[in-house]
Amino acid sequence: MTPAVPPRRRAWIEAFGCQMNLLDGEAAAGDLRARGWAPAASPEEADLLVFNTCSVRQHAEDRVWSRLGALADRKRRDPALLVAVMGCMAQREGEALLRRAPAVDVVVGTRRYGDLARLLEEAEATGRRLASLSTDGFHEAVRDVAVRAERHRGWVSVMRGCCHRCSFCVVPAVRGPQYDRDAASILEEVRRLADDGAAEIFLLGQNINTWGRTLPGRPTLDSLLREVHDVPGARRIRFLTSNPMDLEAGLLDAMGSLPRVMPYLHFPAQHGNDAVLRRMHRGYTRARYLDLAAEARRRVPGVELASDLIVGFPGETEEEFADLLSLVEEARWTMAFVFKYSARPGTAAADLPDPVPEEVKSRRHAAVMAAQARVERGILAARVGTEVEVLVDGPSARVPLRMAGRTEHHQLAVLPPGVGAPGGFLRARVVSSSARVLHVEPVGAAVPARA
Ligand code: SAH
Ligand code: F3S
Repeated sequence: MTPAVPPRRRAWIEAFGCQMNLLDGEAAAGDLRARGWAPAASPEEADLLVFNTCSVRQHAEDRVWSRLGALADRKRRDPALLVAVMGCMAQREGEALLRRAPAVDVVVGTRRYGDLARLLEEAEATGRRLASLSTDGFHEAVRDVAVRAERHRGWVSVMRGCCHRCSFCVVPAVRGPQYDRDAASILEEVRRLADDGAAEIFLLGQNINTWGRTLPGRPTLDSLLREVHDVPGARRIRFLTSNPMDLEAGLLDAMGSLPRVMPYLHFPAQHGNDAVLRRMHRGYTRARYLDLAAEARRRVPGVELASDLIVGFPGETEEEFADLLSLVEEARWTMAFVFKYSARPGTAAADLPDPVPEEVKSRRHAAVMAAQARVERGILAARVGTEVEVLVDGPSARVPLRMAGRTEHHQLAVLPPGVGAPGGFLRARVVSSSARVLHVEPVGAAVPARA
């Protein structure tokens, strides 16, 4: 009789936060798979639970604390269950997390997720609870690109950390100082992703415009884009996030001249009032932001801009808030992510006086959302009658039984019933628009996804 093969153990990763964090989670999932862990179909059936956490706002941390608290019972019933915490909250709390959350076995910081699989084995073998938290340097582990959320899209981290100190932001503290990955290793990963069917490549960095500053010879993002542009199979290239204070003409010219670099710039203003921008340490004024936006529109024909905005920053008066609201009308973003300010321990803004009451934040949040929705409706309505190219993502979350995808401008497009398959490209005409959505009809034949 052949001995029974032991059942593969199963891991469940619960992810919070930005795309950069999700990508680290995918890399860790690839590592776990290489060490014998299979993906679990649900948290209940998992032998290992990994929480990939976010610290950017308090709410994101509260959700993880409550999930960890709820696990205490299960861990008592099933002491063999392994629990790990990675990501920004793991970095921020460090070993204190082991003290506050008795269910947790392993904590790995934002630059140490490569240690996760090994530390779990060690924790299991020794019964010790372990943490790995250093943010010095970083060696990008060779990632199993096949482990990713979407077959037709590949995310690539081009840098770690951030060189700025925006007063509200916890990122520099939890993701460490800027560290850039060299072009050769980025290109190698892009090639593997494109060979594996990722037609859209998304380059990620907290402040991607400064990519290269820590590398020998100080290469710039536009040179990297030119190289990525030459990778066969990478039909669409996007990148995030462009802090306005580091936007340079060379990057805009590269965007304008490289057809595969999509005409969409995530360009967070955060606020529209100069005094608030100063308190935020953003390094630009409202007028400068608008000049840069105009420059982007001049150098990159047809570009769409998107923004992040914060309402209720400490001391934000009604007059200051009015300047944020008017910037929404003036900047005309195709999309804006609007956040209520959340004080983060250890950041400069956490010590500022005059916090804005919660109900005022909520009212201002609703007002900005309403203004942005009006602007978006106008921008989308102006597309009716034009032709776009859609990369189909999958079934629409908004319109039942339809496929949806993204246009070159990252606008959401919904297809007619029965049209489109995930990963396929098609040319289409915009026939109508509603809040946040373009309704399109195909023009000519669809190009299917590559096998
Ligand atoms: N690197 C990016 C920001 C990363 S954090 C940039 O330069 O813009 C993502 C977004 O979360 C920020 O753009 C900001 O709008 C929001 N954010 C960051 N810290 C926050 C806080 N303390 N409270 C509310 N929103 C915050
Ligand atoms: Fe945060 Fe500002 Fe850097 S928002 S990630 S400190 S550019």
